[in-house]
Amino acid sequence: MLMGEIGMKNELLELHKYISDVIRQIPNILESIEKLDVSNKASYRDLVTAADKKIEGYLKESILKKCPCHQFLGEESFEQTKDYRAKDLWIIDPIDGTTNFVKQGENFCTMLSYFKDNEPMLAYVYDIKKNILYSSMKGSGVYQNDKRLEKTADKSLKESLISTDIRRMQRNEAEFFTFLVQNAFSVRVLGSSGLDGVNVITGKLGGYIHYYAGAWDFSPFFLMASEMGLSFTDFSGEPLSPTKASSFIIACPSLHKEIVHFTLKNTLRTV
Ligand code: IPD
Ligand code: CA
Ligand code: CA
Repeated sequence: MLMGEIGMKNELLELHKYISDVIRQIPNILESIEKLDVSNKASYRDLVTAADKKIEGYLKESILKKCPCHQFLGEESFEQTKDYRAKDLWIIDPIDGTTNFVKQGENFCTMLSYFKDNEPMLAYVYDIKKNILYSSMKGSGVYQNDKRLEKTADKSLKESLISTDIRRMQRNEAEFFTFLVQNAFSVRVLGSSGLDGVNVITGKLGGYIHYYAGAWDFSPFFLMASEMGLSFTDFSGEPLSPTKASSFIIACPSLHKEIVHFTLKNTLRTV
């Protein structure tokens, strides 16, 4: 490794440690909120709370203290017409699974990732209630707290549990949805793209298939999937863009191949 590369790796490691500590403070941020202020965004099922806004603000502020020139694509401050491509970009979903947060008090997480020149460098999914931080630094695998995760066994659809976002898949891709439900071993849905996706990383699920989602709903999986040798693409098997909303599949390679074989044979609306 050249001297310059060693310096960059050390800088990234320092940033990784700093961000991990910042994320672990989120339960304290939640506790400091007096009124949850639940309100609606695009529909009555699309919830936002004071906690979503406060966590996004806290993450931006903490990152800017360390990296004053970095840019952000955050769910709660997202502008449809803005071009988010940047040299140093952080993508934030402050609470993923806000419905679970409001209605269950569990199964919600924070998702955060850092891209340098469009390359994923750092990725985090933090299960706030269970205090489990899934994290990844480019070239260093994926960790569940302090434990490095083993690569998962490759599986077929027939032998796998899968997850999907039921309502939109059924409404928009009925045939594909039926194919998945009828051919998988079974279906298990948490209702948080971060935690459902992480269940593929840990091997609890063989795949997670999500109809059209915001860039913040899948950003940590660029790095985590690649570190674990998993497939991560759109419904037609094409690479995703970190700054663009899209349908996505994260899955072990054999299962992914079976799914894409189906989607390419059948004309999907989203492909
Ligand atoms: C939602 C959750 C849900 C997924 C939706 C997302 P939010 O995120 O991840 O599981 O199906 O598409 O919008 O709104 O709670 O951050
Ligand atoms: Ca989300
Ligand atoms: Ca969210």
